[in-house]
Amino acid sequence: MAKTKQEMDSKLAPGEARSRGKQIQDLLDEETVEVPWQLRDAEYTYLGSEPLDRDHYISQEWCDKETENLWSRVWQLACFEQDIPEVGDHIVYDIVDWSFILVRTEPDTIKAFYNSCLHRGRRLCTNELEPANKPEFRCPFHGITWNVDGSLKAIPPSIEFDFPHVDKEEFGLPEVKCERWDGFVFINIDDDAEPLMDFLGDITKHFERWPFANRWKATHSAKIVDSNWKLAQEAFMEAFHVLATHPQMSIGLLGGDGSNTEYNIYDNGDANWSRMTMAPPMPNPNLPYELTEQELIEEMFFRGESVSEMGVQKMAGSAEDLPEGMTTRKLLADAARKNGPNGFVGGEPTDVELTSAIQYHIFPNISPWPGPIFYRHRPYGRDPDKCIMEIMMMVSLPEGAERPPAAKINWLGPDEHFGNIFNQDVENVAQVQRGLKAAKPPGGLTLGNYQDIKVRWHHRLLEKWVNREI
Ligand code: FES
Ligand SMILES: [Fe+2]
Repeated sequence: MAKTKQEMDSKLAPGEARSRGKQIQDLLDEETVEVPWQLRDAEYTYLGSEPLDRDHYISQEWCDKETENLWSRVWQLACFEQDIPEVGDHIVYDIVDWSFILVRTEPDTIKAFYNSCLHRGRRLCTNELEPANKPEFRCPFHGITWNVDGSLKAIPPSIEFDFPHVDKEEFGLPEVKCERWDGFVFINIDDDAEPLMDFLGDITKHFERWPFANRWKATHSAKIVDSNWKLAQEAFMEAFHVLATHPQMSIGLLGGDGSNTEYNIYDNGDANWSRMTMAPPMPNPNLPYELTEQELIEEMFFRGESVSEMGVQKMAGSAEDLPEGMTTRKLLADAARKNGPNGFVGGEPTDVELTSAIQYHIFPNISPWPGPIFYRHRPYGRDPDKCIMEIMMMVSLPEGAERPPAAKINWLGPDEHFGNIFNQDVENVAQVQRGLKAAKPPGGLTLGNYQDIKVRWHHRLLEKWVNREI
């Protein structure tokens, strides 16, 4: 069996070792079309090997500090522009104890208001889940009403005599900072926050290749999960758990165990975004026997249970189609190309883009992909043991196609699941949450130097926010 790079060169510095087999940058060297610069922008910085404090996940005190020092100050995704397409459309965004109403006040203006009545504080909009078009916000408690632009509309005549001290011009709903990028609507509770575009940094240039503004939110599922919000999202910050958590993917869908995934953090870990790129289906170099391309594709089509679930079989044809010298990843890329890939700007799509899972992350809690999957993870109130996990499909449409209405949020009950593979992650993180509490104190966690770099990056930034160093 081939030696690892580490075995061949014992002088490697911490974080420099990589798994066997081809790396993403090697695959890009083999592309027959121009490789977009975004894929070559692949920074990694070793950020140390110190244990990670488990209190970040289980401590109520830490959770409260996140509320006071992170969520109160950070830019966060509230909704998509397409969730509220018409003037008057609104949607509620809840984060920890706060609640906001996002409303389209003019065809190209979206505002965000605190979802709290100025009389005795009732939530103005109680339907947190569904976008709804109303020409006004009428408080259900005593009926004071505001216009969709936040100005006071009316105090009911029967109670108006009691409010002579109210200056109606000044009695508008307080706004929260709201800015947009590429079809996303962000809010920030901190009136002095830096502009959204400064916060996002260079990720906005990366996504010029795979823009979101014209995509269609085709599905949107949410579930309350029994783990801290960070644990749930960290299920998607590394790929080497595939080996143990999703064994059915190791030979089938992925053709590998996730160990050839590329991990990127930027500006020495100080950028507010990161990325990982999972290798496309290739014969797994870590198997005790050598798997040929022909064997791989047969495994994928005939024994990889997850493949037919994902519709790959339909896309690629059958295993007998694999011509001499053809690789599985090339076959899949060509099939995807034939299907008319959408959403690529600035040149033909590469095989890596067509066959790999490229996953970006924007601090603190969203994960946009060049492909259709999109994640958001939020705390569930102030409970460190629960979170809201959301999965959306953000589909790129053919040029000129009319975008259907955005999917409304579909809340899954305790016994409903996102799907087989996601369910394995959900069950896993609930067990991690319990296992973290079961550890002998102080129970520091030992991370991988390279494959866990996104996890380390995220906690490093989080600590800076919580300690108000940012
Ligand atoms: S609490 Fe809203 S009108 Fe009284
Ligand atoms: Fe997973």
